Amino acid sequence: MADHNNLSRKAAVILGGASAVARYLALEFAKDGYDLVLADFDRDENERIAADIRTRTGRRCVPMFFDALAFDTHEGFVRECESVLGQAPEGVVLCFGFMPEQLAAQADFSLARRSIDTNFTGAVSILERYAAIFEARRHGFIAAISSVAGDRGRKANYLYGAAKGGLTRYLEGLRNRLHAAKVAVITIKPGFMDTKMTYGMPLPAPLVATPPQAARVMYAAIRKRKNNVHVLWFWRFIMIIIRHIPEWQFKKMSV
Ligand SMILES: NC(=O)c1ccc[n+]([C@@H]2O[C@H](COP(=O)([O-])OP(=O)(O)OC[C@H]3O[C@@H](n4cnc5c(N)ncnc54)[C@H](OP(=O)(O)O)[C@@H]3O)[C@@H](O)[C@H]2O)c1
Repeated sequence: MADHNNLSRKAAVILGGASAVARYLALEFAKDGYDLVLADFDRDENERIAADIRTRTGRRCVPMFFDALAFDTHEGFVRECESVLGQAPEGVVLCFGFMPEQLAAQADFSLARRSIDTNFTGAVSILERYAAIFEARRHGFIAAISSVAGDRGRKANYLYGAAKGGLTRYLEGLRNRLHAAKVAVITIKPGFMDTKMTYGMPLPAPLVATPPQAARVMYAAIRKRKNNVHVLWFWRFIMIIIRHIPEWQFKKMSV
C-alpha cells in the first residue's frame, strides 16, 4: 500500500487531461520537474498528450482512464494513481468539464443532469478523496477550474452555470476546511478560453484567452497558492459589475 506521507518526488494528478488547457498545464508542471498522471476518458487523445509531454520534458507522464461520472470507481482511481506514481501526489488539478448547449439541455434533462453530475457531483466525489489524504498528511494543493458562469445565473447557460456555481461554493468550503491543515485550494475562473468547448461560438476576441496563456496563469496561481484566480484580470471587474446589477433589471436583460 502506498505511503500517503511520502513526498520524495514532485508529483501531481491532472484530471480532464485531454482538455486543451490541461495539456499546456501538464507541460508547465513537467517543465518544473513534476511527474504526472494525466487522466481523462478520451483514452487515445490522453495517451497522445502524455507521450508528447514525456518527449518534450523527459518527465514521467502516465495516461490513465478516468470518468468523472463513474463515482464508484473514484476510490480505486486514487489508489491506482498512488501506485503508478509510487507515492501520493502533492496535488491534484481538476480540468474536466461538460457544457451542454443550453436550449438542448432545457429540452433534454439527461443533458442537464450530465452537466450537474460532471461539473459538480463528479468534482465533489473525486476531490473529497484527495482532500482526506492531503488533510491527514497536512500538505498539498487542490486546484479546480470553475467558471464565471457560476457567478450569476443567465438564461444563456444557467444549466452549466448552476453546476459551476455549486463547484465554486464547494471549493470555498473546502478551502475553509483545509486551511488548518495547510492544504491550498485554488479556484480558477478562466473567463472565455479558445478550446473545443467554445468552438464555433461568436466570442469577442479581447475577452478570450488561449490555452497556453491560460495554463501559464493557472500554474503561477497554483505555485503561489492563491485562493481565487481569473485568467484575464479584467474578468474580475466584469463580474463585479454583472453581480451588482439589481435583480429587477437583470431579469429583463440578455447578457
Ligand atoms: N473554454 C472556456 O471558455 C471555459 C470557460 C470557463 C471554464 N472552462 C472550464 O475549463 C475546463 C477545461 O475545459 P476546456 O475549455 O479545455 O474544454 P474541453 O477541451 O472540452 O475540456 C473538457 C475536458 O473534460 C473531459 N471530460 C468531459 N466529461 C468527462 C468525464 N465524465 N470524465 C472525464 N473527463 C471528462 C473532456 O473529454 P472529451 O473531450 O472526451 O469530452 C475534455 O477533455 C472545464 O472545466 C471547463 O468547464 C472553460
